[in-house]
Amino acid sequence: MSSGARNGVATPERRARGAARPTKVWAGRLSARTSEQLERYTSSLAVDRRLGADDVAGSRAHARMLRSIGVLTAAQHRAIDAGLRAIAAELSSGVFTVSPGDEDIHTAVERRLFELAGPVAGMLHTGRSRNDQVATDLRMWARRACTDLLVALAGLQEALMTRAGEHRTDPMPGYTHLQRAQVVSLGHHLLAYVEMFGRDGLRLGAARLACDELPLGSGALAGSTLPLDRERVAHELGFGRIAANSMDAVADRDFAVELTAACALTMVHCSRLGEELVLWSSAEFGFASLPDSLATGSSLMPQKKNADVAELARGRSGRVIGDVVALLSVLKGLPLTYNRDLQEDKEPLFDAVDTTAATMRMLTEVMSAVRFDVAAMRRAAADPALQATDIAEYLVANGVPFREAHTIVGAVVARTLAEGRTLADLSVEEWRAASDRFGPGVVRLFDPDAALRRRDVPGGPGPRSVTRQLARARTIVARTRRAAAGG
Ligand code: ARG
Repeated sequence: MSSGARNGVATPERRARGAARPTKVWAGRLSARTSEQLERYTSSLAVDRRLGADDVAGSRAHARMLRSIGVLTAAQHRAIDAGLRAIAAELSSGVFTVSPGDEDIHTAVERRLFELAGPVAGMLHTGRSRNDQVATDLRMWARRACTDLLVALAGLQEALMTRAGEHRTDPMPGYTHLQRAQVVSLGHHLLAYVEMFGRDGLRLGAARLACDELPLGSGALAGSTLPLDRERVAHELGFGRIAANSMDAVADRDFAVELTAACALTMVHCSRLGEELVLWSSAEFGFASLPDSLATGSSLMPQKKNADVAELARGRSGRVIGDVVALLSVLKGLPLTYNRDLQEDKEPLFDAVDTTAATMRMLTEVMSAVRFDVAAMRRAAADPALQATDIAEYLVANGVPFREAHTIVGAVVARTLAEGRTLADLSVEEWRAASDRFGPGVVRLFDPDAALRRRDVPGGPGPRSVTRQLARARTIVARTRRAAAGG
């Protein structure tokens, strides 16, 4: 086959058939047969074929607009639209096939339209470039991804909130530096994650707003000489606004960065939760255990029961952080406007969205099913050392400056440790020997439930504070659900 034949421009039988579109969209300018290695290297079809439904939807809206401004006749529009609807059906049923020469999903859809509708297919690309087309498709995809992520996120928030409600007053040690620090409740601890995932919801909502701008009508970079009705296309595709600058429109991928970054931070939160689950389900902590259906075993050690899902949530966060870096790196050196580098935007974006959605769904199941050993947590929370700060604050209430109180209690801690005793072993007299500001109440400070009740400051782990936080958590979940519903 001659090079011209392969690119579909010169063979008499093609001209006679009339229906086949030249294999390459640039065949008028470049007549040589395209290297197969180049085709393999430049093709993005394996990645971007998931934009197919959005590509067809965008093309249908574009075609309707071309009809409305008189570029297409009614018959031409009918033929194009029928072809596009057939392609949409092929895509959704999975029978759409790609050809080796298809460079990306946009050229694949256009090729198929030629096959189905004949030469009239050649009118669809009027006033449009793949540059504004791909930016539009990707924004449509990303906008829907934000919604899907918000649905998954609301589920995770709700699971955490439910478990927090069950354990509103169950004491456990809170940690700093992974050393036991002060008493908190399991409910308080879990609600910290509802706050984190609540902020993720706001970021995903903001990312969706960033997606909500229509590039189509910007052409390759400089708009069009045709009187394109961009507002009409925006309205049809559900975009809130049209991009104000054609050069920005085709070169901008900020929305993809913002969504990927929102995913990365969500994954960091998932990772931290995963780390807690790994720690808590270790024999050293013994605070939690996964049902067998959500645990994994060892191929060698018969006794093992591992929290692999939590470890993978932790491990995969690294990849999504990498996705943000990959995307920013693609953008950082690009002169305006479109450069082929931008084709590399999809893998990190898709990966970030897929990984984050799957991780949130997995953690929702895990958090709903994890069994907490509240007795073990209570035993750990009863460690008298956790009350050292409360004892210092007891002195503060009796007029001792905090720094001085800290030193006094610190010295008592050091002495009891040296003597192999705990703070709870000291008599009132021994406390009074350390400071005459101690009264008889000091020996009653060690009950973890009482310690929780003392910490009812707004935002604290006290029972009333946690009740207020639970009410707030309900508003966070409701807000996330509203955002998921598009509100
Ligand atoms: N596959 C390309 C991408 O994802 C589509 C745009 C191609 N535009 C071009 N001028 N080569 O970016």
